[in-house]
Amino acid sequence: MMTWLEKDARYIWHPYTQMKTAAPSLPIVRGEGALLMTEDGKTYIDAVSSWWVNLHGHGHPYIAERIAVQARTLEQVIFAGFTHPPAIELAERLLQILPFNQAKVFYSDNGSTSVEVALKIAIQYFHNQEIPHKTIIAFENGYHGDTFGAMSASGDLSFNIAFQDYLFQVKHIPPPLPGQEEASLQAMNKVLLENKVCAFIFEPLVMGAGGMLMYEPEILDQLIEMAHYQGIICIADEVMTGFGRTGKLFASHYLKQQPDIFCLSKGLTGGFLPMGVTTCTQAILMLFGRMTNTKRFFTGILIPLIRWAARRHWQVWIC
Ligand SMILES: Cc1ncc(COP(=O)(O)O)c(C=O)c1O
Repeated sequence: MMTWLEKDARYIWHPYTQMKTAAPSLPIVRGEGALLMTEDGKTYIDAVSSWWVNLHGHGHPYIAERIAVQARTLEQVIFAGFTHPPAIELAERLLQILPFNQAKVFYSDNGSTSVEVALKIAIQYFHNQEIPHKTIIAFENGYHGDTFGAMSASGDLSFNIAFQDYLFQVKHIPPPLPGQEEASLQAMNKVLLENKVCAFIFEPLVMGAGGMLMYEPEILDQLIEMAHYQGIICIADEVMTGFGRTGKLFASHYLKQQPDIFCLSKGLTGGFLPMGVTTCTQAILMLFGRMTNTKRFFTGILIPLIRWAARRHWQVWIC
């Protein structure tokens, strides 16, 4: 009989892994809090919280129980023309803790799709008004995910080299890291002067996959202010920074300027299920609401029905 490891090697293609040279994967059979256990009784500390998602630890009994109860009640239902209390409750609670300018929640299924939705909303916002603003600005070395729009917005990371010919044009400016704030401001100014810009997307304060590069909120405030002055939609990709990663509940809580769109995922479900959320302001919504049928937002997925499992923790944070 084959061992787990032999079967893994035979059947599974692991992400971000060079299969020929990588060490064999570690077969984990149980998780509890910050600990992961192997079949032969070894214990490991999950110091990266399984790629930044398990905010409340593995096997959290409250989250596990709520998911089990919900799965027995209703696992999911088509979300166009139908709705359900867990989705409504989660949206209401998210809007209570996000910056006050956020008005509505759009659900999808992971961090990359939350970014795709954000970019599509920003692009369609201008398209609906028949304003030819199409350029997107992002940071060099930024990371926004692995779908094609998210890869386009990401910097020239090694992950994306094979796909360069298939990505759409995004203007990348230097991030305002300590010592290069002026270069970042000047590059922003230049792109704004020379292009018809629709969106500015950024990872607020911490650029995770690019190397945990950090910068100050004051300089991001200045960049957002420049973009807002021209009516450009500012998208905070808080997929990594959200839910307490920077000390405050969201990195954008350190800002004076408020982004127009938020992308959330990872910590959102405590690592139990995949899920993405994109939120936006009333001003953006009005542009979609006022339009004809062909100008509504054409993106959607089936979302699993999870009761908001981590709500207990949130209650603490909200207080
Ligand atoms: C800032 C940021 N945006 C988007 C993503 C993509 O999220 P996902 O892997 O869930 O598609 C990541 C993933 O690490 C991320 O760090």
